[in-house]
Amino acid sequence: MGTKLGNLKAEARNLARAGQLLPALAAHVHMLGHNPLDGDSRRKVADLLAALGDRAGAVEVYRAVAMHDIRSGHLPPAIVSCKVLVALGENVDDLVAAMAAAYAHGSRALAKFVARQAPVDLDSELAPPDPAAFVDSAALVAAARSRALDFSAFQQYPDRTLPVPFFSELPRKLFPAAIEMLRLVRADDGDLVIRQGEPGKAFYFVATGEVRVFAHLPSRPEPVERAHLHEGALFGEMALYSEQPRTASVAVVGEADLLEIGRDAVSRLCAEVPALAERIDKFARERVLRNLLTTSPLFKPFDHKQQMDLMKRFEGHQVDPGTTLIREGQVGQGLFVILLGEVEVTKQDPEGERPLARLGPGDLFGEMSLLTDAPTTATVRALSPTTILFLGRPYFHRLVSAIPALRAYFEDLARIRHQSS
Ligand code: CMP
Repeated sequence: MGTKLGNLKAEARNLARAGQLLPALAAHVHMLGHNPLDGDSRRKVADLLAALGDRAGAVEVYRAVAMHDIRSGHLPPAIVSCKVLVALGENVDDLVAAMAAAYAHGSRALAKFVARQAPVDLDSELAPPDPAAFVDSAALVAAARSRALDFSAFQQYPDRTLPVPFFSELPRKLFPAAIEMLRLVRADDGDLVIRQGEPGKAFYFVATGEVRVFAHLPSRPEPVERAHLHEGALFGEMALYSEQPRTASVAVVGEADLLEIGRDAVSRLCAEVPALAERIDKFARERVLRNLLTTSPLFKPFDHKQQMDLMKRFEGHQVDPGTTLIREGQVGQGLFVILLGEVEVTKQDPEGERPLARLGPGDLFGEMSLLTDAPTTATVRALSPTTILFLGRPYFHRLVSAIPALRAYFEDLARIRHQSS
């Protein structure tokens, strides 16, 4: 009976975690025998050789695997190997030069479309490793080295590779400094890399493995799953872009190698490469909007094109902390949606100003007076630098008269808010 590759990998991971390094190594040698295109097992062999004290073997495998990753289009895992090699006291100038030549801005090796090797199929079945296959640890270590160094299954490397977000914006001369600025974070299952609500001091690239992004929204009891991210993906950029607390939490699934870059390092690179700053801003803005479109009830009744049309009706505003967006007792000007940041809702009582609520990303306000045509019932002030979208009164009215489901939604929201004010 065969076992799924994904399960064998999980078993090998558990063995390594439990300090059973030789059985873990045997498992990877076995998997690599069946799947010579599996870069992950090759890197694991290097990690296990290092952990077993075979420094020379580990260095040889990390080097070969890094060069292979560079040539086959996998820059982030190649950076991981470089970081480990540096920690082992090795000089990696040659590898960094090869990375810069292949991936830096303007490299002729970059192309928009290239054929990429399909990822290994984790559902494919193979026989479980034979426990008697390696009774002799020296023989196992030797077999692991030679298997991880055998690249004969690769007939030909592609002439071109795809640009890698962020890195392929960097000019060649900045590449070594940028690689040096990265810190390798080797994280395990369930590790929380980013915690929602905390300040952001860095962002991350997924180099190997997987992370899961999830957010707690004030309006929902359960966390919302935002995404699962894999090799090459970037996360944690939103807090840097907006100078706001983290908008979501990010946890490791299985295990992951992450490359962390601090806020100051990013600022230094952006000062030298303005295109990089623009890219990061655009990327963060698009993610914020995508999150709004996928979670806000306001956009739910529409298909993608209609959502885009509606989005165009909104004006975007960036406001400073303390800015009053709505003043109690006035005519409602329109509907507000919070993209980033936080606002406080207060009501004037005979005893003074009474706080009613705090609202955050995805929340709406301003709907009550628009529905009733009565004066605004509370004051809303920005608590932090806040990005809002504003929809003028006439558009709001057109929207709710065209879409009864939206009117019902706003009426429910207004009723609940009215009851708790
Ligand atoms: P930040 O708010 O700094 O920290 C949490 C990160 O989760 C956030 O930056 C984004 O990088 C990431 N994130 C939020 N929403 C999504 C999404 N829909 N898809 C992928 N990543 C996301």
